[in-house]
Amino acid sequence: MQRVLITGARGLLGTPTTQMLAALEGVNVLAAGHGELDITNRQAVQSCLKEFRPDLVINCAAFTKVDACESESDRAEQVNGHGAGIVAEAAAAVNARLIHISTDYVFDGASMRPYRAEDPPAPAELLCAYGRSKLLGERLVQAKHASPLIVRTAWVYGEDGPCFPRTILRLAAERPELRVVNDQTGSPTYAADLAGALVALAQTGATGIVHVTNGGQCTWYEFACEIVRLAGMTTKVVPIATEEYPLPARRPKYSVLDNQKYVEIAGAPLRSWREAIAEFVRSA
Ligand SMILES: NC(=O)c1ccc[n+]([C@@H]2O[C@H](COP(=O)([O-])OP(=O)(O)OC[C@H]3O[C@@H](n4cnc5c(N)ncnc54)[C@H](OP(=O)(O)O)[C@@H]3O)[C@@H](O)[C@H]2O)c1
Repeated sequence: MQRVLITGARGLLGTPTTQMLAALEGVNVLAAGHGELDITNRQAVQSCLKEFRPDLVINCAAFTKVDACESESDRAEQVNGHGAGIVAEAAAAVNARLIHISTDYVFDGASMRPYRAEDPPAPAELLCAYGRSKLLGERLVQAKHASPLIVRTAWVYGEDGPCFPRTILRLAAERPELRVVNDQTGSPTYAADLAGALVALAQTGATGIVHVTNGGQCTWYEFACEIVRLAGMTTKVVPIATEEYPLPARRPKYSVLDNQKYVEIAGAPLRSWREAIAEFVRSA
């Protein structure tokens, strides 16, 4: 793992991943943000890889605005689907390993237990446009690269971009009361912890599909309550149903991911979501 190219390197996940890899001795990181490398530009991606000759490519680039993906579904398909395929094809052409990031939104949320890495994703028609585009990306990555590692994660937050905890902290300071949905359950995941997991996985040479989130599960309402409590605020948080806060994209009601395969590969799970958000709020 001497030469690593990170795409989408200025985002929530790309930023801490870049920082952690760059801190390792003997690793030469090329951190390409959207401005430096557009993954939908096949020629640019191919030239970049031919020139840099990475041993490993980590594709953190994506169009992640879930609701905007509904009205801009072509863009979602181009970036999250075909762009991922372009990165995979270019990585294969220079014999680079590939870690591609995907999402819990490839599941429809009907499960009664955490989704395992081997569970089949939902039929595309049951997914929102973002989920469909990410599923297309998984399929193209598998088609264009002989042995990719696809890391599915969920509910990512961190220091390096807009995210749910920052929104809650801002709104809780502005308003006497927050209304937050209490019928979608998942696992909030701190980008810094996920970046550490990517570095660990990169060092093992694992391939296939792996789920990686912080431990435990909660609803968005429970997550918001914990954020407000940790910040020492008294803002009232009111649980509501998804129907009371309609958004363009359909979200899975339940998208907890089973991290067992990651534990087998890395030797230990990530810490619980409660520990992780406590650290985030302390440093916010
Ligand atoms: N955030 C979550 O809750 C979540 C949950 C599950 C999975 N994931 C996955 O985790 C990965 C990392 O996402 P993130 O959370 O770090 O989101 P993020 O903060 O939005 O980062 C994604 C980055 O990709 C860049 N990008 C967008 N279009 C691009 C293009 N055509 N070419 C190159 N770069 C492009 C964005 O740049 P601009 O902003 O300048 O366009 C942004 O810096 C993605 O695969 C995402 O699908 C995220």
